[in-house]
Amino acid sequence: MTESPETLRRYAYDALVTARVRTARLTDCVDDGELTAQHSPLMSPLAWDLAHIANQEELWLLRAVGGHEPLRPEIDPLYDAFRHPRATRPSLPLLSPREARAYASEVRERVLGVLDAAVLDGDHPLTGAGFAFGMVAQHEQQHDETMLITHQLRRGPAALTASAPPPAPADAAGLPTEVLVPGGPFVMGVSHEDEPWALDNERPAHVRLVPDFHLDTTPVTCGAYRAFVDDGGYRDPRWWAPEGWTFVREQDLKAPLFWRREGGQWLRRRFGVVEPVPDDEPVLHVSWYEADAYARWAGRRLPTEAEWEKAARHDPATGRSRRYPWGDTDPGPRHANLGQRHLRPAPAGSYPEGESPLGVRQLVGDVWEWTASDFLPYPGFAAFPYREYSEVFFGPEYKVLRGGCFGVAPVACRGTFRNWDYPVRRQIFAGFRTARDAEPGTPGAPGNGTVR
Ligand code: AVJ
Ligand code: FE
Repeated sequence: MTESPETLRRYAYDALVTARVRTARLTDCVDDGELTAQHSPLMSPLAWDLAHIANQEELWLLRAVGGHEPLRPEIDPLYDAFRHPRATRPSLPLLSPREARAYASEVRERVLGVLDAAVLDGDHPLTGAGFAFGMVAQHEQQHDETMLITHQLRRGPAALTASAPPPAPADAAGLPTEVLVPGGPFVMGVSHEDEPWALDNERPAHVRLVPDFHLDTTPVTCGAYRAFVDDGGYRDPRWWAPEGWTFVREQDLKAPLFWRREGGQWLRRRFGVVEPVPDDEPVLHVSWYEADAYARWAGRRLPTEAEWEKAARHDPATGRSRRYPWGDTDPGPRHANLGQRHLRPAPAGSYPEGESPLGVRQLVGDVWEWTASDFLPYPGFAAFPYREYSEVFFGPEYKVLRGGCFGVAPVACRGTFRNWDYPVRRQIFAGFRTARDAEPGTPGAPGNGTVR
């Protein structure tokens, strides 16, 4: 991408404004008591997220890029995510909701001045192509997803509303259950030149060899997952990784988070509303251990991160890796369920215009997809601009999730985007799809039956 400075400035401005509109929607719909309460020990008070968003914006855009003096240096430690674990944040002398809003507005007003003056067509690592502005907009949007999780965990009547996603398209019921992804090398990750707003853990671009494998056409649905539940899957150690089995026993898990059985029917709570579990919707709120166990029960496995990215980006016609399953254009409402437009996944088989060249649907949007892989750096990784974004999390404790969900903004979602969490986490908007090795001798080319 070589865009004019005016285009880059407009792009950065729009990304910042879009994020702030979202932040306001998530924080203006509840009263001050709810903004300062801790709705779950896993989450911060919403007012913490709000001031943390502003504090990060101040650090990177006012101080690092703009060279400004700190506005309120005494609050920096309060909003340093590494200094205070989430569970302890409510007891800190935090800014009140009013103060947090005023601080966020003050920072933003000054940031727009910094953006006006910034040299975006130079090669400064922070300002070139508007990287730091894009990074800050992505950071705010990531916290907007975090705040959406807090809304889902919150008790009481619904505070947020949104339209339902469109019904499944006519061809959804007839889709093949899986596609064959042909083996061979592909380019995983992306360079700064090709995707200037990519974050450090997505770089550098490098070649990976992936053998032939089969991948589910859609994410695993609630209906399919219910068959695992009803088959006694949660009581059978055969399906579980040893640590996963310990986890389900200790927690006495019986079904996805927010599900409960009542009078022979499965119900779920979704943003303050209790409703029947919809069979055709991708399953949500399962831990990595549950996804892994389901896959084993089904005679399958989770895809690796490289397999997921190859299915999402590789164009067999050209051999090139693209930005999204549908090509290189930014996500629109017909490609994917993103951006909190809807507060639920769309039915499996939705978004035919967003499918990959091999016919895989809903890789981007709807539900984050657990992969089999640990969160590790790519060969040649360099932390930028701070070690605490990615580097300190690399290792086997975290599993990678791909593809984004309905709660993620387009600016923070790409074919190369990497998310990670502990394998026990269930409050995140995570589901999964399954894979299997291709039988030896399966012709590794499209057109052999399972590929449409
Ligand atoms: C990428 C979602 C794991 O929430 O911990 C927010 C994003 N990093 N502020 C997180 C993030 C710093 C991060 N995840
Ligand atoms: Fe943060």
